[in-house]
Amino acid sequence: MSPILILSVFFCILFNFNCSLKHEKCTGDDKCCLYGKRICDEDRPQFISIVVEGQIDYKSYSILRRIMPTRRRNQPPLGLCSAGLTIAVTRSKTDECLLKDIAIRGHEIIAGSKSYIWPPPFWVHASKEQWFDELNDIKSIINNVEVKGAKAPHFAIGGDAQYQALSEMDISYDISTVYPWSKKFNQPLWPYKLNTSIAWETGECGMPMCKGKICWKPKCPKESYPIWEFPAFEIKDNLTKQTCATIEHCKFDNETHVVEVLFQHFLKFNETNRAPFIIHLNIRDLIKRPLIVDGIAEFLRKGAQDKQYRNFFIITPRQLLSYLENPTSFNDLSTSDIKCPNITQIDKDCIDEIPDLELDRIRGLPIFEFLGNGVTIFALQTCFLLLGFLLLLKFDGK
Ligand SMILES: *[C@@H]1O[C@H](CO)[C@@H](O)[C@H](O)[C@H]1NC(C)=O
Ligand SMILES: *[C@@H]1O[C@H](CO)[C@@H](O)[C@H](O)[C@H]1NC(C)=O
Ligand SMILES: *[C@@H]1O[C@H](CO)[C@@H](O)[C@H](O)[C@H]1NC(C)=O
Ligand SMILES: *[C@@H]1O[C@H](CO)[C@@H](O)[C@H](O)[C@H]1NC(C)=O
Ligand SMILES: *[C@@H]1O[C@H](CO)[C@@H](O)[C@H](O)[C@H]1NC(C)=O
Repeated sequence: MSPILILSVFFCILFNFNCSLKHEKCTGDDKCCLYGKRICDEDRPQFISIVVEGQIDYKSYSILRRIMPTRRRNQPPLGLCSAGLTIAVTRSKTDECLLKDIAIRGHEIIAGSKSYIWPPPFWVHASKEQWFDELNDIKSIINNVEVKGAKAPHFAIGGDAQYQALSEMDISYDISTVYPWSKKFNQPLWPYKLNTSIAWETGECGMPMCKGKICWKPKCPKESYPIWEFPAFEIKDNLTKQTCATIEHCKFDNETHVVEVLFQHFLKFNETNRAPFIIHLNIRDLIKRPLIVDGIAEFLRKGAQDKQYRNFFIITPRQLLSYLENPTSFNDLSTSDIKCPNITQIDKDCIDEIPDLELDRIRGLPIFEFLGNGVTIFALQTCFLLLGFLLLLKFDGK
């Protein structure tokens, strides 16, 4: 055997050994601590979650299909499940059938509110019963989809009333907070669990960046709950100096600018502690801003396909939750670290009746996107071209 071979076998063993040692347990002030495991910032995967709030009718359905075409996948190693959006469903004109169709496409359905009452002080002062009635309404729209998350309207936090209602609904995570960039929050926050009564007050979320009060809303809960909070951060446009909680509330002159601002934020997350980048959208306002819809679609397409963005993974909060329970580094990441959505229990009875909106074709996007690249499309197109050519030859020969 050549010495080089022996040497490489030796290094392989050494490398694997290192791997198994890598995720040592850790506690407290260790900057590398991620939920009890030692994974430093630069070894973490960068996750992105898109949370869309609103009623699901044909208009909003078509917007969702434009943002996320059928069968969009993440880059390896997470290429096995389709990349999914998260839909916080509010009632009014929500169509059960369209909602089922969305769930079957691998998007996650979470509880929005029944009435979406404005202004926000209503939610700050609502009782537990009101919160329950509002958020549990999702079950009267669609009852065979398991709902594990919730989003409060207008990013309102209703104190213990809200979280008691969420506990009763058996909700595992809440996505109702948006943080402003500030001196204190100059880095994004990883999700924190409200299982210690002081979580919001002192930020004892088990990670150094949570030291100090992390609830800045007028009414924070005081008790503890077995619920995760997924914090988002405002979108801040350095060029025009605007900030917005949901991106369609900023003004943009062109699609390119939207894509740039989103990538700037992605890089900021990637360059700091790689907390999940959560992007909130409101569907009713998005319908009026096609330029922003196209910008978001382009951001997601590019991130999921361009080799330059190898650390760009679009996942749903539920998948994020399975990652948080057992975090691994980017190098050890595999599809088994995030659960693919289980859609077996959704009945497909009415879905065939949804008219073909031809959205993907209208937008000029490929209809199928396997493994996030165009190779399959190209192969299929070439096949069809060849077939056509052969047929032509055959008929010519007659
Ligand atoms: C809270 O939950 C986290 C994450 O699951 C866990 O590490 C921690 O031990 C829990 N704390 C308490 C007090 O239960
Ligand atoms: C897009 O809009 C931004 C901000 O208004 C502007 O600076 C930029 O030149 C525009 N780009 C194009 C390609 O029009
Ligand atoms: C905006 O500019 C500030 C200061 O130059 C920088 O710290 C911040 O990361 C920028 N934000 C984004 C989203 O790029
Ligand atoms: C994310 O950060 C890592 C390490 O700092 C860097 O190597 C990588 O290029 C960054 N990703 C992108 C898309 O810039
Ligand atoms: C999916 O859900 C169905 C019905 O709830 C269940 O029977 C099945 O075991 C689940 N499959 C997986 C892979 O979890």
